[in-house]
Amino acid sequence: GAPVQMDIDRIAPGRLVTMEWRGKPIWILHRTDEMLASLGKHDDLLADPSSSQPQQPDYARNAARSIKPEFLVLTGICTHLGCIPVFRPDAGAADMGDDWPGGFYCPCHGSKFDLAGRVYKNVPAPLNLEVPVHRYLADGSLFVG
Ligand code: FES
Repeated sequence: GAPVQMDIDRIAPGRLVTMEWRGKPIWILHRTDEMLASLGKHDDLLADPSSSQPQQPDYARNAARSIKPEFLVLTGICTHLGCIPVFRPDAGAADMGDDWPGGFYCPCHGSKFDLAGRVYKNVPAPLNLEVPVHRYLADGSLFVG
């Protein structure tokens, strides 16, 4: 399908919005400074903290898995069996464990992902969430696809 465009200026810090591309949900998360600071503090809990698997374009193979650190762009489909995870940004949520830094939770079989879409160890999902092909124009608008 053709690329889809999103005006990211309207996404408030901390908010996730969903758009659709090729029938898939695409998430854009405007990460706060606190969210960005949480990345890197729990790498020992992650299956692929350095994004060694080909789950992102090369330009998103970095600590934040993004072009602009504050904006995370992900395909919102679990890498286990394709359910749609839920956004659980609440660090320390009691039901997610005291060390939960915020992220995404798949209700189908309990896979967990951090605020860069990186998968935790010892969950069914084998891979980090996918970062789709995307780019920004000079005015800041986002194109996916
Ligand atoms: Fe997400 Fe199984 S589909 S954990």
